[in-house]
Amino acid sequence: MTDYHLHSRPQGPTIDQEKCTGCSLCLTVCPDETLSLLRGKAVASGDRCLACGHCRAVCPTQAITLPGLEQDLSFHTFIPDNRYLPPGEGDTPQLIRLMLSRRSCRNYTDRALDSQLLEDLVRIGTTAPSGTNSQGWTFTLLPQRAAVESLGNLVAAYFARLNRLAANPLLRGVLQLVGRPALANYYHRYHQTIAQGLREWKEQGHDRLFHGAPAAIIVGSHPGASCPKEDALLATQNILLAAHTLGLGSCLIGFAVAAMAKAPNIQHALGIPAEESIHAVIALGYPAEPYQRLTGRKPITPRYFSG
Ligand SMILES: Cc1cc2nc3c(=O)[nH]c(=O)nc-3n(C[C@H](O)[C@H](O)[C@H](O)COP(=O)(O)O)c2cc1C
Repeated sequence: MTDYHLHSRPQGPTIDQEKCTGCSLCLTVCPDETLSLLRGKAVASGDRCLACGHCRAVCPTQAITLPGLEQDLSFHTFIPDNRYLPPGEGDTPQLIRLMLSRRSCRNYTDRALDSQLLEDLVRIGTTAPSGTNSQGWTFTLLPQRAAVESLGNLVAAYFARLNRLAANPLLRGVLQLVGRPALANYYHRYHQTIAQGLREWKEQGHDRLFHGAPAAIIVGSHPGASCPKEDALLATQNILLAAHTLGLGSCLIGFAVAAMAKAPNIQHALGIPAEESIHAVIALGYPAEPYQRLTGRKPITPRYFSG
């Protein structure tokens, strides 16, 4: 397991006064009034820089650098096109095709994943937006099937305990009486399916939790970010989409997230610090699903508010 910490905030912009023409575009795009003009040149004057790099992106003379930030991302398994893509120049039909072709994969081949592929996915995840650019996400890699199975056993133990509690009608009734219906709801919705899943896992080794995935990524957050869950889930969606382009199948495992939220021993066993929160568990592997076509979504009618 590898744990990536991307928490430390990089320094603010450095502006090459020779190259700066004083066009002030950087001031216009700065979200936090970090920059001002001094004698016709941009200078970093404020102290609230988010280190988002918008100033660098807009500068026509490449006068701005952000020490501590990677300027171009590099990857192990492919060569990225690091040129900026202007609005309107993307390939929308291909983007939608990708989005619809990514499906939750529940059948994997035995082929192991190269750790470099997982590391690339982490890096891709970090291209997501994050509240106040905190980038407070964490990624824990489970690169081998044995690690996924270990996590599966811990999650199974949690649900076995929960199923035992939920099977007690007296306990369900008392909790419901005092306004805590969660156990009763769980019993009616999940008890039977979970019991069946646990039996299949124990008796036949049939993995209905991770669907036999040979690898997984756990996406969490450091404490202190303004929108930790949103940040982590946006990174997660990037990972899911990119996994498809890299030939991988993926599936979010909400049951593992639920177990980790309630059973701190799981996080501890995986070496994830207790102060971190877990928001997504992504099963990954090479798909054994010869899908032929796309499926759409339920029709949706947006609501308008016109002022
Ligand atoms: C938050 C979340 C949790 C999920 N948890 C599970 C899970 O535990 N097991 C599973 O097989 N699929 C899980 N899924 C996958 C959904 O069932 C799936 O996204 C949905 O059926 C739509 O199918 P698609 O992802 O193939 O488009 C989860 C999806 C989300 C968004």
